[in-house]
Amino acid sequence: MENIDWNNLGFGYVKTDYNIRCTYKNGEWGELEVSNSEYFPMHIAATAIHYGQESFEGLKAFRGKDGKIRIFRMDENARRMQDSSDGTLMPRLPIEKFEEAVLKAVKLNERFVPPYESGASLYIRPVMFGTGAEVGVKPAKEYMFILFVTPVGPYFKGGFQATPFVIMREYDRSAPLGMGKYKVGGNYAASLVAGKKAHELGYSNVFYLDAKEKKYIDECGAANFFGIKGNSYVTPESTSILPSITNKSLMVLAEEFGLKVERRHIQVEELATFEEAGACGTAAVISPIERIDDYDKNITYKLTKNGKPGPVCEKLYNRLRAIQYGDEPDKYGWVTILD
Ligand SMILES: Cc1ncc(COP(=O)(O)O)c(C=O)c1O
Repeated sequence: MENIDWNNLGFGYVKTDYNIRCTYKNGEWGELEVSNSEYFPMHIAATAIHYGQESFEGLKAFRGKDGKIRIFRMDENARRMQDSSDGTLMPRLPIEKFEEAVLKAVKLNERFVPPYESGASLYIRPVMFGTGAEVGVKPAKEYMFILFVTPVGPYFKGGFQATPFVIMREYDRSAPLGMGKYKVGGNYAASLVAGKKAHELGYSNVFYLDAKEKKYIDECGAANFFGIKGNSYVTPESTSILPSITNKSLMVLAEEFGLKVERRHIQVEELATFEEAGACGTAAVISPIERIDDYDKNITYKLTKNGKPGPVCEKLYNRLRAIQYGDEPDKYGWVTILD
């Protein structure tokens, strides 16, 4: 066994033993295959590399205090990948096949699931792409689904922390009637330049407004936004954001805590009225937002007191992590325990 320093893992690629593959040919998906190669030979005219016919997912497996491995809401990721297929004219991978691939990959790479105490987890990355050769812009006739896993460190190494975000009106990530609601590679390519600039300016990520009117809040980098205002959990309704599974889960937990959940348009100026806010997603669960600077308008929205995460963010974060690691009962049936 390679010496993995579980306590100092970052969010990067670490080679594991096996990955799972499945090919689509002659109008149907084949059987799942296990591979120990990190490579895949591809046709030079594959639609994935020319026209971006591609989608991916991201989910995690956690090792509990009891040593058991828990996978969080994989049926939701399977469904979202089907939506991405619909949006890119790729064939839908059946939900059962997706789940079987997840379970198989985690099981075969069990030794890479970090110990409970490390706060780290196993990141699961399914990806699907057109492999068939086409030169015109059209969908491929053949596809590949690959699923690999890689151990990742805890997002907050020095404890739960709040970070600043920036609104930069010169960049859009996705259009209102475009691809933002799907998890497709092109959206991330489209975010790289803005992300680089935000990092250079000292921000943790870009805070996107709706591309059409630049009036409403969309997303924060690769995470959904929520704000806490009085007794409400407020999160954007938008056609250009990814439906986050973490956000969907937090909405349930917010209600459990007696908060009112509001999914609606949020005007950027409303940021001034939130007591707390967070960016939520698989990577961080919740990344509390310290402040948001509207770069072009020179306005700062403060979303923390003394730069510290607020109590509601912390409570939601702890509750969701406790379900994921099995410290608290899985009362919503979100977790699949590996045999
Ligand atoms: C653009 C974008 N928004 C939101 C999210 C958060 O989604 P989830 O909670 O399902 O990880 C992600 C990450 O998957 C993302 O890439």
